[in-house]
Amino acid sequence: MSARHYVAFSDVSVTFGHGEGAVRALDRVSLGFGRGSFVCVVGPSGCGKTTLLNVLAGFQAPSDGRVSVAGSEVHGTGPDRGVVFQQAALFPWLTVAGNAAFGPMVRGVGRRARAERAEHWLRIVGLWEFRDRYPYELSGGMQQRLALARALANDPAILLMDEPFGALDALTRERMQEELQSVWRASFMTVLFITHGVEEAVFLGTDVVVMSPRPGRIIERLASPFAHEAGARGSRKVKSDPAFVALREQVLGLILEGPETAGQ
Ligand SMILES: Nc1ncnc2c1ncn2[C@@H]1O[C@H](COP(=O)(O)OP(=O)(O)O)[C@@H](O)[C@H]1O
Ligand SMILES: [Mg+2]
Repeated sequence: MSARHYVAFSDVSVTFGHGEGAVRALDRVSLGFGRGSFVCVVGPSGCGKTTLLNVLAGFQAPSDGRVSVAGSEVHGTGPDRGVVFQQAALFPWLTVAGNAAFGPMVRGVGRRARAERAEHWLRIVGLWEFRDRYPYELSGGMQQRLALARALANDPAILLMDEPFGALDALTRERMQEELQSVWRASFMTVLFITHGVEEAVFLGTDVVVMSPRPGRIIERLASPFAHEAGARGSRKVKSDPAFVALREQVLGLILEGPETAGQ
């Protein structure tokens, strides 16, 4: 995978443990994508999705291969890459506003400027009126919106999300998908989004990457046109469109049966 891609995984392998008990979480994974892509990674539990995200986030060094962003090899974490986890992992001792302003504060952004940035994102995710509350006073969906605002307040070039909506009820999840999509569409952000929801991947992604386990590999990469369409048409309309259903079933087939038998 050449460095001309904005994000490039080149022959990345990650092995946990040694000898008999070693687990090949990623096996020579190569994947490149351009700035502004919304890449959704799907696959069954244990296929290496989180490991893939952790390598780009800089939490996990590859055992082999390299990952680069804009031509520079990734070594450790950085404010250019924001992360949102399945559980919001908020700071319980800080208010909603304090959580949203945390990243800019750590990076030395002045009080006025970071308050403005926090306000901007809290308004967008619909939490401004809750700015003086604490995380435990928020519902799961609100906590996840705050985690998103906190990540976005750092103005990351790349947003990494690991099953961020997995714990939410169906209705909240749908609304979060729409919100995330409109934030992405209005920005130049590149997104790597991990999910085991096939419908979610096909709906949100410009690219859908399908992984299989033991060892963790990419078995297929498909382009999806729907990320650009949903704003105009509404998500229910898109998700019931025959073209959408066909792509969703194709991806599901790949996950259930592998690349050889899908579509037969
Ligand atoms: N820190 C670790 N130590 C040992 N094994 C791990 C570790 N992290 C992940 N694994 C193993 O690597 C494989 C891939 O895990 P993971 O990337 O979490 O998959 P996914 O997110 O797709 O469920 C699994 O078999 C998992 O048990
Ligand atoms: Mg995972």
